[in-house]
Amino acid sequence: MKKHSMLKAVAGAGVLALGIGLAGCAGDRTGGAAPGESQEAGGIIGVAMPTQQSERWIADGNNVKSQLEELGYQVDLQYANDDIPTQVSQIENMITTGAKALIIASIDGTTLTDVLQQAKDANIPVIAYDRLINGTANVDYYTTFDNYKVGVQQATSLLTGLGVLDASGADTGAAGPFNVELFAGSPDDNNATFFWQGAIDTLQPYLDKGTLVVPSGQTEFGQAAILRWLPETAQKRMENILTVIGGTKLNGVLSPYDGLSIGIISALTSGGYSASDLPVITGQDAEVGSIKSIIAGEQYSTIFKDTRELAKQAVTMVDDIRKGETPEVNDEETYDNGEKIVPSYLLESTIVTKDNYKEILVDSGYYTEADLG
Ligand code: BGC
Repeated sequence: MKKHSMLKAVAGAGVLALGIGLAGCAGDRTGGAAPGESQEAGGIIGVAMPTQQSERWIADGNNVKSQLEELGYQVDLQYANDDIPTQVSQIENMITTGAKALIIASIDGTTLTDVLQQAKDANIPVIAYDRLINGTANVDYYTTFDNYKVGVQQATSLLTGLGVLDASGADTGAAGPFNVELFAGSPDDNNATFFWQGAIDTLQPYLDKGTLVVPSGQTEFGQAAILRWLPETAQKRMENILTVIGGTKLNGVLSPYDGLSIGIISALTSGGYSASDLPVITGQDAEVGSIKSIIAGEQYSTIFKDTRELAKQAVTMVDDIRKGETPEVNDEETYDNGEKIVPSYLLESTIVTKDNYKEILVDSGYYTEADLG
């Protein structure tokens, strides 16, 4: 049996075993509708998420699953514990058990080329979720936030916290010099360089004129990057920096993710900073622990990315493809994955501080007061 027809057979068996109709499985296809062709919605959708070590991905997985189920899909939701081979084999399983579409938040955006070729051979459409999948033409759509702007927001909140910018974003003329250290995300996550670039472009004028100083001298992405976004790696790096810079007091730390901020705060408090005189520390994802830290006056800011909205975009894309419609995109130039420019739908993110967390997170129903209490 040829590989392709074997896949179809296995796929069909899986679908039957789950008692789902084969209405959408006509002709030579196991996956999405051909362009312009209408298919019934329904079927199994594979959802591959990176890790459960971070709340945001748990929220993403839950939101995607519940929204797909509301539309009548079955969902195969898998977390890969940040292990690349695990994610690859989870996606392979989704393909062989008859997934009609894949929604993938990759661990390393460059490692899915082979498995996505299998998806392509089985005509299964692929949506890159939050993180771009690189080096393959076999990714159909991408939904994410405006990642460059996230970096701009992180740097802007650092400058606001330091008093270099006022609440309206205007330059206060504060001369500093303010001592800041810079952290970046995981180098294998395409988003990390976007966050970094947005942040550095915003900070550069202040670095150039000496308003901001990086005491460690570590201003390159490669020096600042934290593989796999691990809090303990950020903590170690912060500890090392504190050793290198001796008694120099830090005024700010650019952190691209709440988990890293928690590691950074641990290093600072064990390095002699009291909770009340911590530097201005940024973050991302509005995770509960960090919102509590912001309320307590430790972490200064985070970036809220509404995972309900991101899930909705991904789910709508899948549903549109399954119905033979063309998903809506709003960016067809930014996300070049080395093989193609992936048509994208970008969402907006919001800076959250102690001043607006209630309005942004509680009033919108994302968290209850009790979650944060
Ligand atoms: C996401 C961020 C998240 C980070 C670590 C990135 O790809 O866009 O929201 O903080 O991964 O999980």
